[in-house]
Amino acid sequence: KLKIVTIGGGSSYTPELVEGFIKRYHELPVTELWLVDIEEGKEKLEIVGNLAKRMVEAAGIPMKVFLSLDRKEALKDADFVTTQLRVGQLQARILDERIPLSHGIIGQETNGAGGMFKAFRTIPVILDIVEDMKKLCPEAWLINFTNPAGMVTEAVLRYGSFHKVVGLCNVPVGMKKTMAKQLEVSDEEVDMKIVGLNHHFFMTDVFVNGKSRMKDVLEKYEHMNEEDQTEMKNIMVIPWSKELIRGLQAIPCPYLSYYFFTKEQLEHQMELFQKNNVRAEFVKGVEDELFSLYQEESLHEKPKQLEQRGGAFYSDAACNLISSIYNNKGDIQYVNTVNKGALTNFPVDTVVEIASKITKDGPVPLSAGEIPVALQGTITTIKTFERMVCEAAVTGNKDLAIAALTLNPLVPSDKIAVEVFRDLLEAHKAYLPQF
Ligand code: G6P
Ligand code: MN
Ligand code: MN
Repeated sequence: KLKIVTIGGGSSYTPELVEGFIKRYHELPVTELWLVDIEEGKEKLEIVGNLAKRMVEAAGIPMKVFLSLDRKEALKDADFVTTQLRVGQLQARILDERIPLSHGIIGQETNGAGGMFKAFRTIPVILDIVEDMKKLCPEAWLINFTNPAGMVTEAVLRYGSFHKVVGLCNVPVGMKKTMAKQLEVSDEEVDMKIVGLNHHFFMTDVFVNGKSRMKDVLEKYEHMNEEDQTEMKNIMVIPWSKELIRGLQAIPCPYLSYYFFTKEQLEHQMELFQKNNVRAEFVKGVEDELFSLYQEESLHEKPKQLEQRGGAFYSDAACNLISSIYNNKGDIQYVNTVNKGALTNFPVDTVVEIASKITKDGPVPLSAGEIPVALQGTITTIKTFERMVCEAAVTGNKDLAIAALTLNPLVPSDKIAVEVFRDLLEAHKAYLPQF
């Protein structure tokens, strides 16, 4: 028996995950996949769940798909639990993006003020799930993709006292693919050294079959155009200057564009704001289209349209991770896990996004030496923000939350921090039990 429980099973991303399990059935024979959602998500769960059943049937594998609104029933004796829930659904994300913009600051679901409130809504729910897991499936691994994935992982470890947790993101997978393309090799030949946090890391080295090719990559960035740099569907690409890349001797992950092109990204977001088409609003349109497609009985595979979403390849990250734990593979993947000294000049007990060897006992971060001087500042600043946000998420300390916002580089004034905090708190109060 191999039982997987996916919380937030009604997500439009679920076909991505189901496809991942189907593709890997020969090495990861999932016998039960439980898709769990809440009452409000019932309709979506049924639509996407029925598609999942059709996909499995068409693939001809003996995996049983269960749909459930009863989390406790589902969690019983699970081997792996994946979380992809969105507290407050896309409507809440719209507020996370629009309210900061209405104060003239970046509106983004995992960064700045929006990211903070997504953490506030999500962390209490995930900590509840962890409490259920301790009782119903204490041996299971929690594989979290719910954003902000780094902060959620940190909160589970620090305040949930639960250690079998791994945070996942598709950005390193996307970056690895980009590197393979640039170096004209296959994905499997590429390994990277990444330094930093979820949605806030730098690639400081890249290897093809074990040999460093960083020099060639840095060289390519001397004449990089937009298309070659394109990685995430959800982030506008502005090519990095040659000077920045030379100065850092590292390639920033795409999310760093919000920090290093704040002015330009903000201008772009403001245009979308005025057109009522911020990312969450756009995604809502895509979701409506996806759910009407999912209802077509003739559909029995993941539709192409899902590729418009930023989460492309996330099932590769998730299913490869689960398979490597299950099979004790010892391969290298990029995950959110405790530093444990892998980065020698960073706290040992905090979560980083890092290349790790994946074994049956979970990820073992590969030793990565020091964070280079140029990269220390921003990584430390964001980690400070994350730690303060996690603490505020659990304690409901508003002062701490506001101070964290002011320290965030995307928030240019204490006054704005106070005001945007007040407005987001009011807008999301139904989902914020801690405050
Ligand atoms: C990337 C990030 C995810 C994020 C997604 C948003 O994949 O790694 O953490 O959820 O983009 O994509 P969306 O299509 O929802 O804007
Ligand atoms: Mn991510
Ligand atoms: Mn600031």
